Amino acid sequence: MKGVILMCVKELVQKNFGDNKWEEILHQSGVPRQIFVPMGDITDEDTMKVITTACTVLHLSLQQVIDAFGHHWSTLFAPKMYRLYFTGAKSSKEFLSKMDSVHVTMTQRMNGAKPPRFKYEWQNDKTVIMTYSSQRGLIDIAIACIHGVGEYYKEKLQVTKMGSDKIKIVFP
Ligand code: HEM
Repeated sequence: MKGVILMCVKELVQKNFGDNKWEEILHQSGVPRQIFVPMGDITDEDTMKVITTACTVLHLSLQQVIDAFGHHWSTLFAPKMYRLYFTGAKSSKEFLSKMDSVHVTMTQRMNGAKPPRFKYEWQNDKTVIMTYSSQRGLIDIAIACIHGVGEYYKEKLQVTKMGSDKIKIVFP
């Protein structure tokens, strides 16, 4: 997985819990600090190790850390890092409809990236079933990021997990 994911975890922890907590997580997880750069390659195992260590050190459940990640990624980290994707879409519907092509195009020139893919089945103009496909099985992270996108656009989204690969979203 690309280092950018853990850069977001790092910023989230430092901002909300302080530098010391981040150092503690890094130390306990045993993951080297050189990999926290956008194009850095981190094994999926190391990525998960940092996340589960964060749960232990911060006394939070995995779901709480995932929710905090989705919020931080979609409302603070990604709008700063990838500003044009956000300014280029006026609503969460427009933004999320582009997520498949965004992941494909932005990882095209990244060696070793294996982006998640999304398929869209529109049930009506406000309701979509998004099918998530990735060998990583991180649908809960996708859901948390979708909630965060709703917060970014200040829109109330209804997001429902339908099994291990489908997410129903109702837009306002
Ligand atoms: C501008 C916004 C976004 C950008 C630039 C972006 C970019 C990326 C990048 C670079 C990765 C790492 C891929 C790899 O290392 O193979 C990634 C992973 C991921 N992204 Fe996004 N992302 C964005 C928004 C979202 C949103 C809104 C969702 C939810 C629908 C999402 C879901 C995920 C998931 C679940 C992963 C984990 C990898 C996996 O499941 O295989 N992302 N993203």
